Amino acid sequence: MCRIVGYIGYNQATPILLNGLGRLEYRGYDSAGVAVFGDKGIVKARSEGKLVNLKKKTESTDVSGTVGIGHTRWATHGEPNETNCHPHSSMNGKFVVVHNGIIENYDVIKKQLLKNGVKFLSETDTEVVPQLLEYYYDGDVLEAIRKVTNELTGSYALGILCADCPDIIFAARKSSPLIVAKGENENFIASDISAILDYTKTYTTLNDGDIVELKKDSVKLFDKDLNEKEINFTVTDLDLSAVMKNGYEHFMLKEINEQPEKVKGLFDSYVSDGKVDIPELEKLSDCLENCEKIYAVACGSAYHTSIAGKYVIEQFSRIGVETDIASEFRYRSPILNEKTPVIIISQSGETADSIAALRMAKEHSAPVIGIVNVVGSTIYRESDCVLYTKAGPEIAVATTKGYATQLMMFYLIALYLAQKKGTLTAQEIAQYCAELETIPEKAERLVKNTAQIEKYSDRYKSSKNFFFIGRNTDYAAAMEASLKVKEISYISSDAYASGELKHGTIALIDKGTPVISFCANKRLFDKAWSNAEEVVARGAEVICVVSQKDEEKIKEGYGKIVLEDICDEFSTMLEVIAMQIFAYYIAKGNGCDIDKPKNLAKSVTVE
Ligand code: M6R
Repeated sequence: MCRIVGYIGYNQATPILLNGLGRLEYRGYDSAGVAVFGDKGIVKARSEGKLVNLKKKTESTDVSGTVGIGHTRWATHGEPNETNCHPHSSMNGKFVVVHNGIIENYDVIKKQLLKNGVKFLSETDTEVVPQLLEYYYDGDVLEAIRKVTNELTGSYALGILCADCPDIIFAARKSSPLIVAKGENENFIASDISAILDYTKTYTTLNDGDIVELKKDSVKLFDKDLNEKEINFTVTDLDLSAVMKNGYEHFMLKEINEQPEKVKGLFDSYVSDGKVDIPELEKLSDCLENCEKIYAVACGSAYHTSIAGKYVIEQFSRIGVETDIASEFRYRSPILNEKTPVIIISQSGETADSIAALRMAKEHSAPVIGIVNVVGSTIYRESDCVLYTKAGPEIAVATTKGYATQLMMFYLIALYLAQKKGTLTAQEIAQYCAELETIPEKAERLVKNTAQIEKYSDRYKSSKNFFFIGRNTDYAAAMEASLKVKEISYISSDAYASGELKHGTIALIDKGTPVISFCANKRLFDKAWSNAEEVVARGAEVICVVSQKDEEKIKEGYGKIVLEDICDEFSTMLEVIAMQIFAYYIAKGNGCDIDKPKNLAKSVTVE
């Protein structure tokens, strides 16, 4: 998705902008550009493709100056070519703008401006912003921004330069992330703090409707009607190492390896003496204890954690859980009211469909619990209760530690609800807590001893299609495993509930088709095993993901990945970590761009 950086200070802006855009590179983009205020006014350099192309452009263009804005674009309106690349200018060059989001009414505005003789150069929705600014501008930039933002519908984070104000960057935000950060005699705007951690840790997150006037030594914040607001800066505890590879070949591998420590962190935060205490949920405790149904809504992998969570919450607390893909939830008519809590799960906290689902839930008075990894993100700020997953910045597009911490949070919620409702005894809760406590050490051994998994990645890396099958919590693991393989190695794969395969899909099984059968749920081993045999009878090559306890039951000739024993309810965690490793080595073996898979963006801030 598009990302923004802006700098104003005493140093040259271009290297800082390029560095900041580089830190955000993992989020996916297809063109990039900067605009810098220099002696000759505002000069732009833009290019298709990766930042290295832009860097070359800046070497042959005079983009010197100490005030500038930069952008990486993930094309939505118009091809990823140089003309559509940001920054965009108004017809007479008075305004130059970078934008993240979608201007939904751009067509109406564009038609109106065209009628008034305004000439457009690009196919983008964004270009209406500088054009409209120039149209309304009568010497007062803030007033022009007020008028324009009042007229825009959709989402935007905007960085704005005006040719008449060489010492100011303006910014505005609605529904797309934007922060303002403060340094020593220099200030920044950015889509997120990781862009500027090299320079400062002091920042504030803008709210919807906020407008900013940024000078090198001052920051002024206004609401949408230009009333000045107080600014509360905070200092992030992230350091640069959190956004660097630290010796790992890929961020994904680094993040896989961070999982034991991250899930332990969450466990330690909420469990003591065999009891689970989640103070953040206390204000909804009446509602949670008395509700009959909880909705869990998310996209992608976050949706998969909700499926694993559903099995465990229903089993432990006897509260029904309805899981929904956010982009579907928002366009159906779910029965929502003050008695139906809605859990929104999102690593980034900025996924557009998840935000829309959250807002829809709130419109119907449903209490919203956000499971989120980014402090200050939209979902973090708009949820009634926030469960912060503390995984640290996740850079690889494919989520790993984000997933593991969300899953741990679901396990903790399930136990918390069971404790509140008395559906498990204190002794049972303590036993489950003891099991949970073993996850970090088991996960640690798993991520450190990958040979048994790498062997299969190597053997099957040229396969054209994988099937992942499982039942119950093992099915949740199958869904996530399938997505991991698809997104980073571009190999087609399907996840099926084992028992469902024979209702049609088994027709696709041929000689040599790799089928990964999840059997770590010991209660369902025999069922899973017979489904594995069914596909073997049709020529499939099966790899069973099995717990140590059942290892001996796997017949000669079947592949197996053996996991340490853990109770059935929590087996998804180890299965998924094993499959992250499996997918990682397939992608590596195929020379794929593991951290930045094609066509994907880290957080999907458009619908
Ligand atoms: O930031 P979110 O958790 O809301 O993102 C949701 C999905 O876009 C995300 O999980 C996606 O499926 C991952 N790339 C999968 O690895």
